[in-house]
Amino acid sequence: MPKQRVQDIQSKGSRPRVVTTKTVTTMKQTGEKIAMLTAYDFLVAKLLDQVGIDVILVGDSLGNVVQGYETTLPVTVDDMIYHAKAVKRAVKNALIVVDMPFMSYQNSVDEAVRNCGRVMKEVGVGAVKLEGGAYIAEIVKHLVKIGIPVMGHLGLTPQAINKFGTYEVRAQDKKEADELVRDAKVLADAGVFAIVLEKIPSSLAKKVTASIPVPTIGIGAGPHCDGQVLVVYDMLGMTEEFRPRFVRRYGEFAESLRSAFNSYIKDVKSQQFPTMKESY
Ligand code: KIV
Repeated sequence: MPKQRVQDIQSKGSRPRVVTTKTVTTMKQTGEKIAMLTAYDFLVAKLLDQVGIDVILVGDSLGNVVQGYETTLPVTVDDMIYHAKAVKRAVKNALIVVDMPFMSYQNSVDEAVRNCGRVMKEVGVGAVKLEGGAYIAEIVKHLVKIGIPVMGHLGLTPQAINKFGTYEVRAQDKKEADELVRDAKVLADAGVFAIVLEKIPSSLAKKVTASIPVPTIGIGAGPHCDGQVLVVYDMLGMTEEFRPRFVRRYGEFAESLRSAFNSYIKDVKSQQFPTMKESY
């Protein structure tokens, strides 16, 4: 992109509050809901930051919506760093959290430190997000101890799709629900500053939210969480076939884009673009 255009975008709008992990934790105490959305590129991140989003998640959902994979499993640490760097260049105020991809942290504390450390050092973001319950508590504890803030993620954790076998609502039976409440407490004790709860019953999300001191951020987890997150392309109506009930659409961008592309093709074919006014 030409330098002038980057500067134009960067100069529009501003907001006073710089959001840190501490801000997010405090929002639970003050009762201010946390608004989080995903971003994977400079332009979307810039717009989100301009309008005052609290948290931008560079989600490994980029494996689905940017790279076109069926699952998030093929995403690499290098992929995350590439996208997170683009987001980072755009953001002045929002807290940026980067998802750690499948098999970049589960195997050992050493591996988690190496990969999360790369993300923090090479990109300069505020925190990482790890999927998983009590079994990653030791890893979380160590990361937090050495200065790497961690957001947890429980419920429908997409990196475990091969274990689950479906993207259905999780923790509908008592055993899994009890385990999720225990996991949330263990993660909070291990030092996470927030926990994403994905696709679980809203009554369970309410219970978890009331039982831990750190904020919960729901996606398909109902209204009682301390905040909400959606995949940005879902809420913009770009992922047309993906219509779960938890996605509220705030635009029909697939249709708008198709219409714009069609108009362009028509104008080029009919020689209505460019005019002399659009030429030098
Ligand atoms: O990868 C992602 O976008 C996520 C959100 C759905 C929470 O983990």
